[in-house]
Amino acid sequence: MPEPTSLTFELLPDTIRQSSAIGAEIQLPPGMPIVSPEELNDADKATLRKALFENQVVVIRNQKGIDPTAIPKLAKVFDPNATDIHSAGEKAVSNPKNILSAYKAGRIPRAQQVGIIGSGKFQDYEGIKELEVVHLDHTLFHEEPLSQDSLDQGYTRPYRWHMDTPFYERLPGEVTILHSIRIPKMSDQKIKFPGGEEKEIAAGATAFFSGARAFELLSPEEQEFALNTTVTYAPQAYEYIRQCKASEDGLTIPTFGREVPIENLSEWEWNKVAEHPMVWRNPLNPERPFLQVHGCCVYKLTTHNPQTGEISIMDDVEQVRKVVYAMQRKIYAAKNIYAHRWEEGDLVIFHNRGVMHSITGQLSQHKDDEDKRRLLWQCTMTSTTPPKPFREYEGVNDTGYSKA
Ligand SMILES: [Fe+2]
Repeated sequence: MPEPTSLTFELLPDTIRQSSAIGAEIQLPPGMPIVSPEELNDADKATLRKALFENQVVVIRNQKGIDPTAIPKLAKVFDPNATDIHSAGEKAVSNPKNILSAYKAGRIPRAQQVGIIGSGKFQDYEGIKELEVVHLDHTLFHEEPLSQDSLDQGYTRPYRWHMDTPFYERLPGEVTILHSIRIPKMSDQKIKFPGGEEKEIAAGATAFFSGARAFELLSPEEQEFALNTTVTYAPQAYEYIRQCKASEDGLTIPTFGREVPIENLSEWEWNKVAEHPMVWRNPLNPERPFLQVHGCCVYKLTTHNPQTGEISIMDDVEQVRKVVYAMQRKIYAAKNIYAHRWEEGDLVIFHNRGVMHSITGQLSQHKDDEDKRRLLWQCTMTSTTPPKPFREYEGVNDTGYSKA
């Protein structure tokens, strides 16, 4: 007889989920106040997997005191093929040529797979003498940031929608786990959507949208195109875009021309450049297609005609961005976005291969340094198995890397 599960989950209320198709809260088994991956039985793990792969983001409240070394073990419940290597590499990104170095992310010395992100200076934290982490906000990356007046009124924007992966040399992890140590003590902020609708969110909320919802919102023609298309990412994608600026929704780069010429990038080779199907298959929810594309880092689209077998290639980066953006922008509405309102102690697990996420919030304008401090742990581990194409066809690239 298999053991019964005593771990349960409940969907977040409809008022919060709205049309996002995102969000569930986990209740741990009685007698387990802090999640202990080793003590979960197989049925508990199956329930946990079901909660995540059906709802894409799950939260376990009150996890203050969790040992950082438990977090990579928990990630492996969802991806047994995860390596113990952080998806940004063995060490935090510090190369100034890479736009990701701007976060100044640190690592927990006793758990190198766990990064430290946030806002502000911290002393003697987890064996690190001086830690300074930077909360990037949209004013640093958007082509036309909000005016001072709008900032004063409490508006913010998503910084950049992404999956946690460098699109080079390493495959995206199935999940990312975030753990909130400290949250900013500031009033709510708000996002204005096209059409004028507004959403009130906590300062420093992490925003998510579901790739499954994004796929549903496509026209039948777009769905067919997406199912037959493979996306090649830019070589050294985050170096390539480091001087570029984003659209106000954080989904794309609207102006072409500031890309770093590929001959000036750090050494690279095609067979390490990420190439993924545009639509991914969810491991536990195999009938639901997920549109998973990083609109700022795209480089080339290869489309297969299922009738004739013909292949067409679009390799004009400006055009590629436009095509992807026309598809993805439909999701950008208040009701489709889940913005996690952090409480200290939250452990949030998200399906990195089923959502796009973004940091939000304007913290730097806030006067009081103490109030705007924010600290999160972030565990994202490179997987050894590439994302699976939703539609299998002859010649589909399912290796995760370009062959060009
Ligand atoms: Fe991220």
